[in-house]
Amino acid sequence: MAERVRVGVLISGRGSNLIALAEHKRRGPRAYDLALVASNVPEARGLVAARRLSIPVWAHSHKGMTRNDFDSLVDAQLRAHRVEVVALAGYMRLLSPEFVAAWSGRILNIHPSLLPAYKGLDTHARAIAGGEIYAGCSVHIVTDALDDGPVIAQAKVRIRERDSAESLAERVLIEEHKLYPEALDAFCARMASPSLDGEAC
Ligand code: GRF
Repeated sequence: MAERVRVGVLISGRGSNLIALAEHKRRGPRAYDLALVASNVPEARGLVAARRLSIPVWAHSHKGMTRNDFDSLVDAQLRAHRVEVVALAGYMRLLSPEFVAAWSGRILNIHPSLLPAYKGLDTHARAIAGGEIYAGCSVHIVTDALDDGPVIAQAKVRIRERDSAESLAERVLIEEHKLYPEALDAFCARMASPSLDGEAC
């Protein structure tokens, strides 16, 4: 395989998707290396997991800073760790247009809905209230608009009659943990070997 792509993961919370990315990598070989985990929440639970997994960690609170100034700090850390692709994994902060432009086409996000439906928060409760048959999760390339940008992978989960937002979230999360690592790996494989682009799938 060509050289592996260096991925920086941005988190704000428990980090279960980060752990899934690391687990998938461990069962490798994969097209990515986890080069850095960065967070705007120094006490984020996922940072404990990242340290345990021996992934370099950087954390700094965004409080009291402008979005641009904070994103410049993150950008500097990513570059210092020679990151090539940014994977948002429960990063609960909007990115500045400058940051998105600087990393254009190289930021992925996992969102717990079947995009373009249910962008934003409380996706599971809204999908249930909307009378949907399916919920799910999507991996997409990040653009300036919230939870927008080309979808590169999706997984569906059937909504059950007795589902609460919590029970549905649990089943969607199981799919997230399979979908994100596979999508990131495929994305990085294509980046490392652009000749794969013309391949039929
Ligand atoms: C996930 O549901 C993800 O889809 C959303 O935020 C949640 C993060 O969970 N963007 P975790 O921190 O990865 O456990």
